[in-house]
Amino acid sequence: MSGPFEGQVAVITGAARGLGLDYARRLAADGATVVLADVDEAGASKGAGEISSAGGRAIALACDVTDPDASSALAARVVSELGRIDVLVNNAGIWGDLEAAEILDIQPDYWDFVMGVNVKGCWLCTRAVAPQMREQGRGRIINMSSIGSRMASGVYGVSKLALNQLTWTTAAALGDHGVTVNAVAPGPIYNEATQRQVAREHFDRLIEQTMIKRAGTGKDMYGAIRWLASDDAEWVTGQTIYVNGGFMGVF
Ligand SMILES: NC(=O)c1ccc[n+]([C@@H]2O[C@H](COP(=O)([O-])OP(=O)(O)OC[C@H]3O[C@@H](n4cnc5c(N)ncnc54)[C@H](O)[C@@H]3O)[C@@H](O)[C@H]2O)c1
Repeated sequence: MSGPFEGQVAVITGAARGLGLDYARRLAADGATVVLADVDEAGASKGAGEISSAGGRAIALACDVTDPDASSALAARVVSELGRIDVLVNNAGIWGDLEAAEILDIQPDYWDFVMGVNVKGCWLCTRAVAPQMREQGRGRIINMSSIGSRMASGVYGVSKLALNQLTWTTAAALGDHGVTVNAVAPGPIYNEATQRQVAREHFDRLIEQTMIKRAGTGKDMYGAIRWLASDDAEWVTGQTIYVNGGFMGVF
């Protein structure tokens, strides 16, 4: 497929389902060769197969982003098979408890689990692709934050605010190598994950608190990703961009 990302390679973590799969489909439709990386290997393969059948270029690679060896192997495999890495979307994430009070009830293992995927996983994947992007003199890293980072919302919110800080710090480290690092922070998206994690009444209350009064979609998020991945955003780095329908509320 032809488009603005033709000739580019985009790696999307957590792409077996949900927003990650949606981004992979859209980046492929815009011409990128996409790598669907996920701990759910079967889901990633199915997604890559669907994209290929629709005329896109896609491969699936199994990767647990919290495993340093696996994230390094992911970057090495992409470079050896596809020759470059232009875009990394650090999308793999664990939806944690969203209620502030639950921060006092969770167990240390659960804290480690959420922080491990949502923060350490993004750091490891960024670290893994950085040498290749530096060598290319160009790269785009886009982290998937959340409106949870702006409000008291359990360990999930803590992890996403930490991710915003990781975005800032890695952007500073990579800025003079032509590599930008930004975060996109979605508001409430009505998908499989929110249906699983958020009661319908609670979700409706979230929508009530947006200025635009509707749930977001993958397409809404992709507008920001597409721009951040493009040359138009080459002077934008270290930023967290809230794409949330004008969310005004608190959990
Ligand atoms: N859905 C929303 O409303 C919403 C709102 C704000 C932020 N986000 C963020 O967007 C991202 C995607 O959300 P989603 O709704 O599509 O979630 P989802 O649960 O549907 O998908 C998450 C994906 O990450 C993968 N994953 C989990 N742990 C992994 C690991 N260790 N290594 C590799 N892959 C792993 C899962 O297998 C899954 O495919 C997350 O970072 C989430 O925090 C979503």
